Amino acid sequence: MDKIIILDFGSQTTQLISRRIREIGVYTDVLPGDTQFKDIDKTDLKGIILSGSPESVYEDDAPLIDKAIYKAGLPILGICYGLQRITADFNGKVSPLAKKEYGRSAVKYLAQSLLFRDVPEYFISWMSHGDSIEKTGDRFEVIAVSENHTAAVYNSELNIYGIQFHPEVTHCEYGKKILENFAFNICGAKKEWSMERYFENTREDIIKRVDGRDVLLLISGGVDSAVVAALLLKSIKPEKIHLMYIDTGLMRKDESIEVEKSLKKLGAKNLHLINASAEFLSALKGISDPEMKRKIIGDLFMQIQQREILKLGIPDNSLLAQGTLYTDLIESGKGIGKKAHVIKSHHNVKSPLVEEKRNRGEILEPLDRLYKDEVRELGRIMSLDDQLINRHPFPGPGLAVRIMGEITEENCNLLREADFIYISELKKRGLYNDIWQAFSVLLPVRSVGVAGDTRKYGKVLALRAITSKDGMTADVYPMPMNHLLEISSLITNNVNGIGRVVYDVSSKPPATIEWE
Ligand code: XMP
Repeated sequence: MDKIIILDFGSQTTQLISRRIREIGVYTDVLPGDTQFKDIDKTDLKGIILSGSPESVYEDDAPLIDKAIYKAGLPILGICYGLQRITADFNGKVSPLAKKEYGRSAVKYLAQSLLFRDVPEYFISWMSHGDSIEKTGDRFEVIAVSENHTAAVYNSELNIYGIQFHPEVTHCEYGKKILENFAFNICGAKKEWSMERYFENTREDIIKRVDGRDVLLLISGGVDSAVVAALLLKSIKPEKIHLMYIDTGLMRKDESIEVEKSLKKLGAKNLHLINASAEFLSALKGISDPEMKRKIIGDLFMQIQQREILKLGIPDNSLLAQGTLYTDLIESGKGIGKKAHVIKSHHNVKSPLVEEKRNRGEILEPLDRLYKDEVRELGRIMSLDDQLINRHPFPGPGLAVRIMGEITEENCNLLREADFIYISELKKRGLYNDIWQAFSVLLPVRSVGVAGDTRKYGKVLALRAITSKDGMTADVYPMPMNHLLEISSLITNNVNGIGRVVYDVSSKPPATIEWE
């Protein structure tokens, strides 16, 4: 399948570039900016995009590129820092601007080129830069300008384009057209990336990879593992698929029952439901540190999994299937190399069992090239229930990272009840599907209240609702006040122990989506 590689220099919009290219039907991979050309898989590689960056090319620690890439004979498009990197590498000059250019900016192209085919001569682009091109690189011509700056350059000998604006941002007029021009007219890529095709290819891959062995899949209750389960059930015999669901006691209300129902509906035969709540609660006793919680849960999860695999007699050479997504790899520092910071350890990527299985080539991660909404689309193609597909993401460590401080059964029950009211109300009010993720967080503080003549000293509950494309960044959902007020009073009136409700108004960054 034709693909375009994006070399990532750390821009906030790298993933957006990747998604836009996929949306127009071409497969993309994001690699670290300093990847050596010899290490890039060149199969069906049609072109390379250089991303933006928060850095400046004239600084000592500016991210570099392997110059062999320029000479590879592949079309290149540098975006923002990408353009500046190219300029500096071809003896041009990049200088800081007195004032950062941010937002909409009119662009006029000077020369017709494949990049601007079917784009009007003037259009409104979207800029975000603190540096600009003072002198273009050798053998580059300026092909577009904004009011004060060079907006696009081209080297016809090497087929390298550079643009100062961000075509991946929706506010950039004709941004999609410009990316299409690059992908189809300049790179000559074929439109081969679609979920239907991905589904067919993945089924074939699964059959080949599994090669008659058994497969074990841990079910989390979320959409990702459900989609993997459906993919497996549509590819190989249900008798060969072991679906294991470990109830950690940190799940949402009625979650375990719903999981069982939906898996049976999918045709699952070997369904292993394990209630391990007591073990988890005891291991978490006295623990408040978020990373400790994650580690304990991750380790215990794997221990129980091992134990149950032995108990059930699941063959040693079975494959381990996982619902790992592209963004999971990136956030765990695996996808974008040096530039990525490990913000939270997502235990589905880091566990020793997974590593061991990976080393033995016994891991199956059929979603690891997909973004969340692509997974949902795949679920739709396989006719999974909308209810399941549209379910908000839920973190591996479950309620443990939504109970600040120590986790007790009482706190879990309190949070479960309150969150159930919150989520049910969002659904009833038709808000649930406008929100990317909503949940409640139990705070370790008490606050004074009054009911009738009695003083109450209840816990504080924070409600969170965000919109996002893929969880990498998030905006606060602007919840209409009437809903907030009504939901808040439903919670304080019905959940004994919650005395006060607050709404979290922090976006990501600087906050993360979960509180821990
Ligand atoms: P953060 O809090 O990192 O969350 O902004 C981004 C998305 O990831 C989910 N999340 C997790 N998912 N294991 C998971 O499978 C985890 O340990 C984990 N931590 C956070 C979070 O719910 C959000 O959707």
